[in-house]
Amino acid sequence: MLNNFTLEKIDINAPIPEEETKRQFYFMAKAKKHVEALAEKLGHVPTCCVTTFGCQMNARDSEKLVGILENVGYEIIDSEKADFVIFNTCTVRDNANQRVYGRLGELNGYKRRNPHMKIALCGCMMQEPAVIEKIKKSYGFVDLIFGTHNIFKFAELLCASFETEGMLIDIWKDTDKIVEDLPVERKYSFKSGINIMFGCNNFCSYCIVPYVRGRERSREPKDIIREIETLVADGVVEIMLLGQNVNSYGKNLEEPVTFAQLLREVEKIEGLQRIRFMTSHPKDLSDELIQVMKESKKICRHLHLPLQSGSTEILTRMNRRYTKEQYVDLAMKIRREIPDIAITTDIIVGFPGETSEDLEETIDVVKTVKFDNAFTFIYSKRTGTPAAAMENQVPEEQVKEGFDRLLKVVQETAREQVAKYQGKVMDALIEEVNDSDNTKVTGRLSNNTVVHVPGDASMIGKIVPVSLDECHGFYYIGHVVE
Ligand code: 5AD
Ligand code: SF4
Repeated sequence: MLNNFTLEKIDINAPIPEEETKRQFYFMAKAKKHVEALAEKLGHVPTCCVTTFGCQMNARDSEKLVGILENVGYEIIDSEKADFVIFNTCTVRDNANQRVYGRLGELNGYKRRNPHMKIALCGCMMQEPAVIEKIKKSYGFVDLIFGTHNIFKFAELLCASFETEGMLIDIWKDTDKIVEDLPVERKYSFKSGINIMFGCNNFCSYCIVPYVRGRERSREPKDIIREIETLVADGVVEIMLLGQNVNSYGKNLEEPVTFAQLLREVEKIEGLQRIRFMTSHPKDLSDELIQVMKESKKICRHLHLPLQSGSTEILTRMNRRYTKEQYVDLAMKIRREIPDIAITTDIIVGFPGETSEDLEETIDVVKTVKFDNAFTFIYSKRTGTPAAAMENQVPEEQVKEGFDRLLKVVQETAREQVAKYQGKVMDALIEEVNDSDNTKVTGRLSNNTVVHVPGDASMIGKIVPVSLDECHGFYYIGHVVE
C-alpha cells in the first residue's frame, strides 16, 4: 500500500492516472495542497469530525474516510465544532433519517460562526432521490454530497469541493467497481472489520438496503486474505468479515468460492486469533459452514441469524424464503452441533398485516431457540419497498403493545442464556478501559458477552483468561486468572 511518504512524491502537475487506486492517490496529493492552504488561512491545522450512523458496514466506510482525511492533513477530532464535518448516514429505519436532519440543524448554527466550515453527507440515506431533493431545498448550507457506490472517490470529490462554490452532489445509481488498497484508519488497533462483499440481492420486502447498496459483489479471496495478512502484521488479532449476506459470498466470482471455503483460508492466517462475521441469512446457511465453525479454533462462538418474524405467513410476505419450522430446525441443529455457541437475532414488530397470533409465533420461536440476545425493531415504512405499498399497516398502539410483550420475553431468555456461564473461566479479548471506572477494563468473550475486570490500558488488545464471577443481566463482573 502507498503511504504518506509517497503522497509527497506524487506530481500533481502530471496527467491524472487512469488506474483507479493511483487516481485517488493523485487526488489525495492534490487535496493535501488545498488543506495546507486552508491551514495557512485559518492559522491552525484544520480539524475534521466523521459521525457514523448505522451498521458495521458504515463504520468501516468511515474508517476509509478517516484514512484519507488524515493522509491529506486534517486533524481528526470527536467534536462537531470542527472545520469539516461528515455525516455517514443510514436509512434502514426512518428514525435514522430524522436524527440526521436534527443534527444538520445544529451544524448550521456552527457554520454561521465558522464561515470556513465544510459539511459533507454520504452513506445510504444519500442514495434516496427524495432525500437529495429535501437537502437541496431546506439544507442549502451543505457543501458536498456523495453516496455509497462512489465512496472510493472521496479524495477526488474533496478536491472538487475545494475548487467549487456551492453544493456539490455526486450520486451513482449502482456500480460494479471494487477499488482496493486505499488508506484506512482503524478505530481500534487490535480489531478490524473487513468487507468481503458489497450490496444485497435478497429484496426482503420491508428493506431499503438493496436499493441503496446495490447488487451483490464479492471481493476476490486473494484480496481479502492479503488485507487480513497486512492487518495482522499491524497488530490486529480479531477480524469481522462484513457483508449484508455473507452466506452468499463468492457466488458471483469468476471462479466461485463458498463462504465456508473462504473461512478455511482465513483460518490459516498465522497470528490471527479470532474470526467473526456478519450477517448470515438463514436461507443460505450451509451445513458446510456449520462444519467449518465446529472444527475451527478461531471462529468465534457467535452467530447473528436474523429471524425477523416467527410467523410463516409474515415471513412469506417479507420474502424471507424460509418458514418458522425451517428457522427453528436450523437454529437447533446449530445448537446441537456447536453447544457453546451464542445465537443472536433481529426481529421486526408491526410488519403490515401482523396480528397478535403472528406475534405469538415469534414469541414461540424466541422461547424455543432461547436467543442469547435479540435486537427488536418497530417496523418502519420505507418508500419504494414493496411492504410500503401493502395494506393493513398495523396501528401504532397495537405495535407498541406487541413490542413491549416481545421485549420482555427476549430479555428473559437472554438473561437466562448469559447466566449459564457464571463461575466459568473463559478467554476475553480486552477492548477498552471502562468509561465509568478507570480501574477496570472491558473484554469480550468469544460468544460476544461483555465482561468487566480489574486492569489497565496495557491489557488492551490481549486475550486473557477471565473468571466470570457475577452475572449482571447481560454482562459479567470478573477477574483475570493468572
Ligand atoms: N423497519 C424496521 N426494521 C428494519 N430492518 C430492516 N429494515 C427495516 C424496516 N423497514 C431491521 C432488520 C434488519 C436490521 C438490520 O434492521 O431486522 O435485520
Ligand atoms: Fe447499514 Fe443498511 Fe443502515 Fe446502510 S441502511 S448503514 S447498510 S443498516
